Amino acid sequence: MSGNQQVLLRRRPTGAPTMGDFTIAESLIPTAGNGEVIRRTIYLSLDPYMRTRMSEVPSYAPPLAIGDVMVGQTVSEVIASGNPSFAAGDIVSSFDGWQQYGVSNGEDLRKLDPNVAPVSTSLGILGTPGLTAYVGLLEIGKPRPGETVVVSAAAGAVGSVAGQIARLKGCRVVGIAGSPEKCRLLVNELGFSAAVNRRASDFQSRLRAECPDGVDVYFDNVGGSVLSAVLRLVNQGARIPICGMISQYNATTTAPGPNLGQLLVRRVRMEGFNVNDYLNRCDDFVSECGAWVRKGELRYREHIVDGLEAAPRAFIGLFDGENVGKLLVRVSPVANQRTSRRLGTRPPAASAMAPEVQGSSTCGAWAAIVSHLERLSSVPFDVSPQMRTTESVASAPERGGRTILRLP
Ligand SMILES: NC(=O)c1ccc[n+]([C@@H]2O[C@H](COP(=O)([O-])OP(=O)(O)OC[C@H]3O[C@@H](n4cnc5c(N)ncnc54)[C@H](OP(=O)(O)O)[C@@H]3O)[C@@H](O)[C@H]2O)c1
Repeated sequence: MSGNQQVLLRRRPTGAPTMGDFTIAESLIPTAGNGEVIRRTIYLSLDPYMRTRMSEVPSYAPPLAIGDVMVGQTVSEVIASGNPSFAAGDIVSSFDGWQQYGVSNGEDLRKLDPNVAPVSTSLGILGTPGLTAYVGLLEIGKPRPGETVVVSAAAGAVGSVAGQIARLKGCRVVGIAGSPEKCRLLVNELGFSAAVNRRASDFQSRLRAECPDGVDVYFDNVGGSVLSAVLRLVNQGARIPICGMISQYNATTTAPGPNLGQLLVRRVRMEGFNVNDYLNRCDDFVSECGAWVRKGELRYREHIVDGLEAAPRAFIGLFDGENVGKLLVRVSPVANQRTSRRLGTRPPAASAMAPEVQGSSTCGAWAAIVSHLERLSSVPFDVSPQMRTTESVASAPERGGRTILRLP
Protein backbone atom coordinates (compact mmCIF):
# COMPACT_ATOMS: atom_id res chain seq x y z
CA MET A 1 0.00 0.00 0.00
CA SER A 2 1.31 3.43 -0.86
CA GLY A 3 -1.34 5.50 0.94
CA ASN A 4 -2.25 5.87 4.59
CA GLN A 5 -3.19 2.39 5.81
CA GLN A 6 -5.84 2.50 8.53
CA VAL A 7 -7.76 0.04 10.68
CA LEU A 8 -11.42 1.02 10.99
CA LEU A 9 -14.23 -0.18 13.22
CA ARG A 10 -16.39 -2.19 10.82
CA ARG A 11 -19.05 -3.28 13.27
CA ARG A 12 -19.56 -3.40 17.02
CA PRO A 13 -18.38 -6.68 18.56
CA THR A 14 -20.82 -9.02 20.21
CA GLY A 15 -18.81 -10.57 23.02
CA ALA A 16 -15.12 -10.97 22.29
CA PRO A 17 -13.83 -8.91 19.36
CA THR A 18 -13.24 -10.83 16.15
CA MET A 19 -11.35 -10.09 12.96
CA GLY A 20 -14.64 -9.29 11.20
CA ASP A 21 -15.14 -6.30 13.52
CA PHE A 22 -12.26 -4.51 11.82
CA THR A 23 -11.54 -3.53 8.28
CA ILE A 24 -8.34 -2.31 6.69
CA ALA A 25 -8.70 0.77 4.54
CA GLU A 26 -6.45 3.23 2.81
CA SER A 27 -6.71 6.98 2.57
CA LEU A 28 -4.45 9.60 1.06
CA ILE A 29 -1.35 10.45 3.01
CA PRO A 30 -2.15 13.88 4.45
CA THR A 31 -0.19 16.92 3.39
CA ALA A 32 0.86 19.67 5.76
CA GLY A 33 -1.29 22.77 5.54
CA ASN A 34 -0.42 26.02 7.22
CA GLY A 35 0.71 25.30 10.79
CA GLU A 36 0.10 21.57 10.44
CA VAL A 37 2.35 18.67 11.34
CA ILE A 38 2.37 15.35 9.46
CA ARG A 39 3.81 12.30 11.18
CA ARG A 40 4.44 8.65 10.43
CA THR A 41 3.44 6.21 13.14
CA ILE A 42 6.26 4.16 14.65
CA TYR A 43 4.55 2.48 17.63
CA LEU A 44 0.87 2.03 18.34
CA SER A 45 -0.20 1.11 21.86
CA LEU A 46 -2.92 -1.56 22.14
CA ASP A 47 -4.91 -1.33 25.38
CA PRO A 48 -7.96 -3.04 26.90
CA TYR A 49 -9.94 0.22 27.09
CA MET A 50 -10.23 0.20 23.30
CA ARG A 51 -12.78 -2.60 23.60
CA THR A 52 -15.13 -0.30 25.49
CA ARG A 53 -14.79 2.35 22.79
CA MET A 54 -15.98 -0.21 20.23
CA SER A 55 -19.29 -0.61 22.06
CA GLU A 56 -22.20 1.77 21.84
CA VAL A 57 -22.25 2.37 25.58
CA PRO A 58 -20.35 5.52 26.56
CA SER A 59 -17.55 5.01 29.10
CA TYR A 60 -14.82 7.53 29.88
CA ALA A 61 -15.10 8.73 26.34
CA PRO A 62 -17.79 8.63 23.66
CA PRO A 63 -18.06 5.44 21.60
CA LEU A 64 -16.42 5.22 18.20
CA ALA A 65 -18.74 5.47 15.21
CA ILE A 66 -18.82 2.68 12.67
CA GLY A 67 -16.17 3.48 10.09
CA ASP A 68 -14.00 5.48 12.48
CA VAL A 69 -10.28 4.86 12.71
CA MET A 70 -9.64 2.84 15.89
CA VAL A 71 -8.28 5.08 18.66
CA GLY A 72 -4.91 4.68 20.27
CA GLN A 73 -1.84 6.42 21.60
CA THR A 74 1.13 6.47 19.26
CA VAL A 75 4.78 7.37 18.95
CA SER A 76 5.53 8.91 15.58
CA GLU A 77 8.16 10.66 13.51
CA VAL A 78 7.39 14.06 12.04
CA ILE A 79 7.81 13.86 8.26
CA ALA A 80 6.65 17.34 7.28
CA SER A 81 5.80 20.41 9.29
CA GLY A 82 4.28 23.78 8.67
CA ASN A 83 4.51 24.48 12.38
CA PRO A 84 7.69 26.19 13.62
CA SER A 85 7.63 24.17 16.87
CA PHE A 86 8.19 20.89 15.02
CA ALA A 87 10.66 19.79 12.39
CA ALA A 88 10.95 16.73 10.20
CA GLY A 89 12.70 14.00 12.19
CA ASP A 90 11.21 14.97 15.55
CA ILE A 91 9.83 12.02 17.50
CA VAL A 92 6.50 12.83 19.08
CA SER A 93 3.90 11.25 21.29
CA SER A 94 0.45 11.62 19.82
CA PHE A 95 -2.94 10.01 19.68
CA ASP A 96 -3.20 9.13 16.03
CA GLY A 97 -4.94 5.79 16.39
CA TRP A 98 -4.57 2.72 14.22
CA GLN A 99 -3.14 4.31 11.10
CA GLN A 100 0.19 4.91 9.43
CA TYR A 101 0.03 8.70 9.25
CA GLY A 102 -1.50 11.45 11.36
CA VAL A 103 -1.99 15.19 10.95
CA SER A 104 -2.90 18.01 13.32
CA ASN A 105 -1.94 21.55 14.20
CA GLY A 106 0.58 20.21 16.73
CA GLU A 107 -1.25 21.15 19.91
CA ASP A 108 -1.76 17.46 20.69
CA LEU A 109 1.89 16.54 20.17
CA ARG A 110 4.65 16.20 22.71
CA LYS A 111 8.26 15.79 21.72
CA LEU A 112 10.17 12.73 22.92
CA ASP A 113 13.92 12.47 23.15
CA PRO A 114 14.97 9.12 21.68
CA ASN A 115 18.44 9.49 23.15
CA VAL A 116 17.18 9.15 26.67
CA ALA A 117 15.29 5.87 26.65
CA PRO A 118 13.61 3.73 24.02
CA VAL A 119 10.69 5.83 22.81
CA SER A 120 8.40 2.83 23.21
CA THR A 121 8.67 3.26 26.98
CA SER A 122 6.50 6.38 26.70
CA LEU A 123 3.64 3.97 26.01
CA GLY A 124 4.54 1.56 28.81
CA ILE A 125 6.71 1.56 31.87
CA LEU A 126 7.35 5.32 31.75
CA GLY A 127 3.91 6.22 30.47
CA THR A 128 0.32 5.65 31.44
CA PRO A 129 0.56 1.96 32.44
CA GLY A 130 3.44 2.75 34.79
CA LEU A 131 1.65 5.73 36.30
CA THR A 132 -1.55 3.72 36.66
CA ALA A 133 0.27 1.05 38.62
CA TYR A 134 2.01 3.62 40.76
CA VAL A 135 -1.00 5.70 41.77
CA GLY A 136 -3.42 2.79 42.11
CA LEU A 137 -1.13 0.86 44.36
CA LEU A 138 0.18 3.72 46.48
CA GLU A 139 -2.85 6.05 46.64
CA ILE A 140 -5.50 3.41 47.21
CA GLY A 141 -3.64 0.22 48.09
CA LYS A 142 -1.36 1.98 50.57
CA PRO A 143 0.86 -1.07 51.05
CA ARG A 144 2.91 -1.38 54.22
CA PRO A 145 6.16 -3.35 54.52
CA GLY A 146 5.53 -6.99 55.34
CA GLU A 147 1.98 -7.00 54.01
CA THR A 148 0.74 -9.44 51.38
CA VAL A 149 -0.14 -7.79 48.06
CA VAL A 150 -1.92 -9.77 45.33
CA VAL A 151 -1.94 -8.48 41.74
CA SER A 152 -4.00 -9.90 38.85
CA ALA A 153 -3.00 -9.74 35.17
CA ALA A 154 0.37 -9.56 36.87
CA ALA A 155 2.41 -10.25 33.75
CA GLY A 156 0.70 -7.42 31.86
CA ALA A 157 1.66 -3.80 31.36
CA VAL A 158 0.08 -2.40 34.53
CA GLY A 159 0.19 -5.49 36.73
CA SER A 160 3.89 -6.19 36.25
CA VAL A 161 4.72 -2.69 37.43
CA ALA A 162 2.24 -2.72 40.33
CA GLY A 163 3.69 -5.98 41.62
CA GLN A 164 7.26 -4.78 41.39
CA ILE A 165 6.47 -1.52 43.15
CA ALA A 166 4.83 -3.50 45.95
CA ARG A 167 7.99 -5.60 46.23
CA LEU A 168 10.11 -2.46 46.35
CA LYS A 169 7.89 -1.20 49.16
CA GLY A 170 8.81 -4.28 51.18
CA CYS A 171 5.68 -6.37 50.62
CA ARG A 172 5.25 -10.03 49.91
CA VAL A 173 3.81 -10.07 46.39
CA VAL A 174 1.72 -12.81 44.87
CA GLY A 175 0.93 -12.53 41.18
CA ILE A 176 -2.00 -14.04 39.31
CA ALA A 177 -1.47 -14.75 35.62
CA GLY A 178 -2.88 -16.95 32.88
CA SER A 179 -0.13 -19.51 32.21
CA PRO A 180 2.67 -21.41 33.96
CA GLU A 181 5.23 -19.58 31.79
CA LYS A 182 3.96 -16.22 32.94
CA CYS A 183 4.00 -17.40 36.55
CA ARG A 184 7.63 -18.45 36.21
CA LEU A 185 8.49 -15.08 34.71
CA LEU A 186 6.90 -13.27 37.63
CA VAL A 187 8.91 -15.19 40.22
CA ASN A 188 12.19 -15.72 38.40
CA GLU A 189 12.58 -12.42 36.61
CA LEU A 190 10.37 -9.85 38.29
CA GLY A 191 10.97 -10.89 41.90
CA PHE A 192 7.44 -11.80 42.92
CA SER A 193 7.33 -14.06 45.98
CA ALA A 194 4.87 -16.43 44.32
CA ALA A 195 2.54 -16.65 41.33
CA VAL A 196 -0.64 -18.59 40.70
CA ASN A 197 -2.16 -19.60 37.36
CA ARG A 198 -5.75 -18.37 37.22
CA ARG A 199 -6.64 -21.12 34.74
CA ALA A 200 -5.53 -23.97 37.05
CA SER A 201 -8.38 -26.14 38.31
CA ASP A 202 -7.17 -25.72 41.89
CA PHE A 203 -6.63 -21.96 41.53
CA GLN A 204 -8.49 -21.04 44.73
CA SER A 205 -6.62 -23.48 46.96
CA ARG A 206 -3.27 -22.57 45.42
CA LEU A 207 -3.95 -18.90 45.97
CA ARG A 208 -4.85 -19.60 49.57
CA ALA A 209 -1.65 -21.62 50.01
CA GLU A 210 0.45 -18.76 48.62
CA CYS A 211 -1.22 -16.24 50.95
CA PRO A 212 -0.81 -17.93 54.33
CA ASP A 213 -1.26 -14.60 56.14
CA GLY A 214 -4.24 -13.53 54.06
CA VAL A 215 -4.37 -10.61 51.62
CA ASP A 216 -3.83 -7.01 52.69
CA VAL A 217 -3.91 -5.34 49.27
CA TYR A 218 -5.45 -6.68 46.09
CA PHE A 219 -4.61 -4.71 42.92
CA ASP A 220 -7.47 -5.81 40.68
CA ASN A 221 -7.06 -5.63 36.92
CA VAL A 222 -9.64 -8.22 35.97
CA GLY A 223 -12.70 -8.44 38.25
CA GLY A 224 -15.00 -11.47 37.88
CA SER A 225 -14.12 -14.85 39.32
CA VAL A 226 -10.55 -13.84 40.18
CA LEU A 227 -11.87 -11.00 42.32
CA SER A 228 -14.27 -13.42 43.99
CA ALA A 229 -11.41 -15.78 44.77
CA VAL A 230 -9.27 -13.06 46.35
CA LEU A 231 -12.19 -11.66 48.36
CA ARG A 232 -12.32 -14.95 50.27
CA LEU A 233 -8.81 -14.26 51.57
CA VAL A 234 -8.90 -10.59 52.55
CA ASN A 235 -7.66 -9.50 55.94
CA GLN A 236 -9.18 -7.00 58.32
CA GLY A 237 -8.69 -3.53 56.87
CA ALA A 238 -7.58 -4.75 53.43
CA ARG A 239 -7.54 -2.30 50.51
CA ILE A 240 -8.60 -3.12 46.95
CA PRO A 241 -7.75 -0.67 44.15
CA ILE A 242 -10.09 -1.51 41.28
CA CYS A 243 -7.92 -0.71 38.29
CA GLY A 244 -9.68 -2.67 35.58
CA MET A 245 -12.31 -5.33 34.89
CA ILE A 246 -11.03 -6.95 31.73
CA SER A 247 -12.98 -10.14 32.39
CA GLN A 248 -16.17 -8.10 31.88
CA TYR A 249 -15.27 -6.07 28.80
CA ASN A 250 -16.61 -8.68 26.39
CA ALA A 251 -19.63 -9.64 28.49
CA THR A 252 -22.98 -9.69 26.73
CA THR A 253 -24.97 -10.14 29.93
CA THR A 254 -24.45 -8.73 33.39
CA ALA A 255 -22.16 -11.11 35.23
CA PRO A 256 -23.16 -12.21 38.73
CA GLY A 257 -21.35 -9.96 41.18
CA PRO A 258 -18.84 -11.27 43.69
CA ASN A 259 -20.01 -11.87 47.22
CA LEU A 260 -19.13 -8.63 49.00
CA GLY A 261 -19.83 -9.89 52.50
CA GLN A 262 -16.14 -9.91 53.33
CA LEU A 263 -15.95 -6.15 52.70
CA LEU A 264 -18.30 -5.62 55.58
CA VAL A 265 -16.98 -8.27 57.91
CA ARG A 266 -13.32 -7.35 57.37
CA ARG A 267 -13.85 -3.58 57.00
CA VAL A 268 -12.25 -3.69 53.56
CA ARG A 269 -11.95 -0.59 51.40
CA MET A 270 -12.51 -1.14 47.68
CA GLU A 271 -12.13 1.83 45.35
CA GLY A 272 -12.21 2.22 41.61
CA PHE A 273 -9.86 4.76 40.11
CA ASN A 274 -8.92 6.36 36.82
CA VAL A 275 -5.32 7.32 36.24
CA ASN A 276 -6.44 10.67 34.81
CA ASP A 277 -7.58 11.71 38.27
CA TYR A 278 -4.04 11.38 39.59
CA LEU A 279 -1.99 13.37 37.16
CA ASN A 280 -0.85 15.51 40.05
CA ARG A 281 1.22 12.48 41.14
CA CYS A 282 3.33 12.54 37.98
CA ASP A 283 6.28 14.18 39.70
CA ASP A 284 6.33 11.55 42.43
CA PHE A 285 6.00 8.79 39.86
CA VAL A 286 8.82 10.29 37.89
CA SER A 287 11.02 10.63 40.91
CA GLU A 288 10.46 7.22 42.43
CA CYS A 289 10.02 4.99 39.40
CA GLY A 290 12.75 6.79 37.51
CA ALA A 291 15.19 6.07 40.28
CA TRP A 292 14.13 2.41 40.36
CA VAL A 293 14.51 2.06 36.62
CA ARG A 294 17.89 3.72 36.83
CA LYS A 295 19.04 1.39 39.58
CA GLY A 296 17.79 -1.64 37.72
CA GLU A 297 15.14 -2.48 40.27
CA LEU A 298 12.14 -2.00 38.00
CA ARG A 299 12.05 -4.17 34.88
CA TYR A 300 9.67 -4.23 31.99
CA ARG A 301 8.60 -6.28 29.03
CA GLU A 302 7.29 -5.24 25.65
CA HIS A 303 5.32 -7.57 23.44
CA ILE A 304 5.82 -6.18 19.96
CA VAL A 305 4.00 -7.24 16.82
CA ASP A 306 5.06 -5.94 13.42
CA GLY A 307 2.84 -4.21 10.91
CA LEU A 308 -0.43 -2.31 11.29
CA GLU A 309 -2.38 -5.17 9.71
CA ALA A 310 -1.32 -7.32 12.70
CA ALA A 311 -3.08 -4.97 15.14
CA PRO A 312 -6.58 -6.54 15.14
CA ARG A 313 -5.32 -10.04 15.87
CA ALA A 314 -2.91 -8.80 18.53
CA PHE A 315 -5.70 -6.79 20.17
CA ILE A 316 -7.95 -9.86 20.22
CA GLY A 317 -5.09 -11.70 21.90
CA LEU A 318 -5.15 -9.25 24.83
CA PHE A 319 -8.37 -10.93 25.93
CA ASP A 320 -6.80 -14.37 25.67
CA GLY A 321 -3.78 -13.32 27.72
CA GLU A 322 -1.35 -13.71 24.82
CA ASN A 323 0.71 -10.67 25.69
CA VAL A 324 3.51 -10.55 28.19
CA GLY A 325 4.09 -6.96 29.25
CA LYS A 326 3.09 -3.94 27.19
CA LEU A 327 1.45 -4.79 23.87
CA LEU A 328 2.70 -2.60 21.03
CA VAL A 329 2.46 -2.61 17.27
CA ARG A 330 5.58 -1.53 15.40
CA VAL A 331 3.87 0.21 12.51
CA SER A 332 7.07 1.40 10.85
CA PRO A 333 10.80 1.29 11.61
CA VAL A 334 12.23 3.49 14.31
CA ALA A 335 14.13 6.09 12.34
CA ASN A 336 15.94 7.91 15.12
CA GLN A 337 17.39 4.91 16.94
CA ARG A 338 18.50 5.71 20.42
CA THR A 339 22.23 5.87 20.86
CA SER A 340 24.28 5.52 24.02
CA ARG A 341 24.12 9.12 25.00
CA ARG A 342 24.14 10.08 28.61
CA LEU A 343 20.95 11.03 30.24
CA GLY A 344 20.62 14.73 30.36
CA THR A 345 22.86 15.63 27.48
CA ARG A 346 19.76 16.76 25.60
CA PRO A 347 16.97 17.57 28.00
CA PRO A 348 13.49 17.55 26.58
CA ALA A 349 11.52 20.74 26.35
CA ALA A 350 9.41 21.52 29.39
CA SER A 351 6.37 20.92 27.24
CA ALA A 352 7.45 17.39 26.39
CA MET A 353 4.51 15.55 27.84
CA ALA A 354 2.71 12.48 26.63
CA PRO A 355 -1.04 12.61 26.04
CA GLU A 356 -3.07 10.36 28.29
CA VAL A 357 -4.53 7.12 27.08
CA GLN A 358 -8.08 8.28 27.38
CA GLY A 359 -7.17 11.18 25.19
CA SER A 360 -8.33 14.18 27.14
CA SER A 361 -5.65 15.10 29.61
CA THR A 362 -1.90 15.10 29.58
CA CYS A 363 0.80 13.70 31.77
CA GLY A 364 4.47 14.39 31.54
CA ALA A 365 5.45 10.96 32.73
CA TRP A 366 7.96 9.91 30.12
CA ALA A 367 9.56 13.24 29.44
CA ALA A 368 9.43 14.45 33.00
CA ILE A 369 11.15 11.34 34.26
CA VAL A 370 14.12 12.30 32.20
CA SER A 371 14.41 15.86 33.34
CA HIS A 372 13.82 14.82 36.92
CA LEU A 373 16.58 12.22 36.80
CA GLU A 374 18.79 14.87 35.36
CA ARG A 375 18.19 17.08 38.34
CA LEU A 376 18.58 14.21 40.79
CA SER A 377 21.67 12.64 39.47
CA SER A 378 25.18 13.88 39.50
CA VAL A 379 26.18 10.48 38.11
CA PRO A 380 25.40 10.25 34.42
CA PHE A 381 22.86 7.57 33.65
CA ASP A 382 23.21 5.76 30.39
CA VAL A 383 20.17 3.69 29.62
CA SER A 384 21.33 1.57 26.75
CA PRO A 385 24.29 -0.42 28.12
CA GLN A 386 22.15 -1.53 31.02
CA MET A 387 19.49 -3.02 28.81
CA ARG A 388 19.50 -6.63 27.77
CA THR A 389 17.10 -8.11 25.29
CA THR A 390 15.94 -11.70 25.19
CA GLU A 391 13.17 -13.54 23.43
CA SER A 392 10.35 -14.53 25.71
CA VAL A 393 9.20 -18.06 26.31
CA ALA A 394 5.69 -16.71 26.16
CA SER A 395 5.91 -15.03 22.81
CA ALA A 396 3.27 -15.77 20.23
CA PRO A 397 5.13 -16.31 16.97
CA GLU A 398 2.06 -17.72 15.29
CA ARG A 399 0.54 -14.29 15.66
CA GLY A 400 3.68 -12.53 14.60
CA GLY A 401 4.40 -11.42 18.13
CA ARG A 402 7.58 -11.53 20.06
CA THR A 403 8.30 -10.32 23.50
CA ILE A 404 11.27 -8.24 24.32
CA LEU A 405 12.43 -8.32 27.88
CA ARG A 406 14.21 -5.24 28.97
CA LEU A 407 16.31 -5.71 32.03
CA PRO A 408 18.03 -2.65 33.33
N1 LIG B 1 -7.95 2.61 35.97
C1 LIG B 1 -7.18 3.12 35.01
O1 LIG B 1 -6.98 4.32 34.92
C2 LIG B 1 -6.54 2.19 34.03
C3 LIG B 1 -5.51 2.62 33.17
C4 LIG B 1 -4.91 1.67 32.33
C5 LIG B 1 -5.36 0.36 32.32
N2 LIG B 1 -6.40 0.00 33.15
C6 LIG B 1 -6.88 -1.40 33.23
O2 LIG B 1 -5.82 -2.18 33.75
C7 LIG B 1 -5.99 -3.52 33.33
C8 LIG B 1 -4.66 -4.02 32.75
O3 LIG B 1 -4.40 -3.28 31.57
P1 LIG B 1 -3.05 -3.51 30.77
O4 LIG B 1 -2.97 -2.46 29.73
O5 LIG B 1 -1.93 -3.66 31.73
O6 LIG B 1 -3.34 -4.89 30.03
P2 LIG B 1 -2.47 -6.21 30.15
O7 LIG B 1 -2.51 -6.64 31.57
O8 LIG B 1 -1.14 -5.98 29.52
O9 LIG B 1 -3.27 -7.26 29.25
C9 LIG B 1 -4.47 -7.77 29.64
C10 LIG B 1 -4.31 -9.07 30.47
O10 LIG B 1 -5.51 -9.33 31.17
C11 LIG B 1 -5.63 -10.71 31.40
N3 LIG B 1 -6.98 -11.13 31.01
C12 LIG B 1 -7.55 -11.03 29.80
N4 LIG B 1 -8.80 -11.51 29.81
C13 LIG B 1 -9.02 -11.93 31.07
C14 LIG B 1 -10.14 -12.54 31.73
N5 LIG B 1 -11.29 -12.82 31.08
N6 LIG B 1 -10.01 -12.85 33.05
C15 LIG B 1 -8.88 -12.59 33.71
N7 LIG B 1 -7.79 -12.01 33.14
C16 LIG B 1 -7.86 -11.69 31.84
C17 LIG B 1 -4.58 -11.41 30.53
O11 LIG B 1 -3.51 -11.82 31.38
P3 LIG B 1 -3.45 -13.30 32.04
O12 LIG B 1 -4.01 -14.26 31.01
O13 LIG B 1 -2.02 -13.50 32.31
O14 LIG B 1 -4.29 -13.25 33.28
C18 LIG B 1 -4.10 -10.30 29.62
O15 LIG B 1 -2.76 -10.49 29.22
C19 LIG B 1 -7.14 -3.53 32.34
O16 LIG B 1 -8.31 -3.96 32.99
C20 LIG B 1 -7.26 -2.07 31.93
O17 LIG B 1 -8.56 -1.75 31.50
C21 LIG B 1 -6.99 0.88 33.99
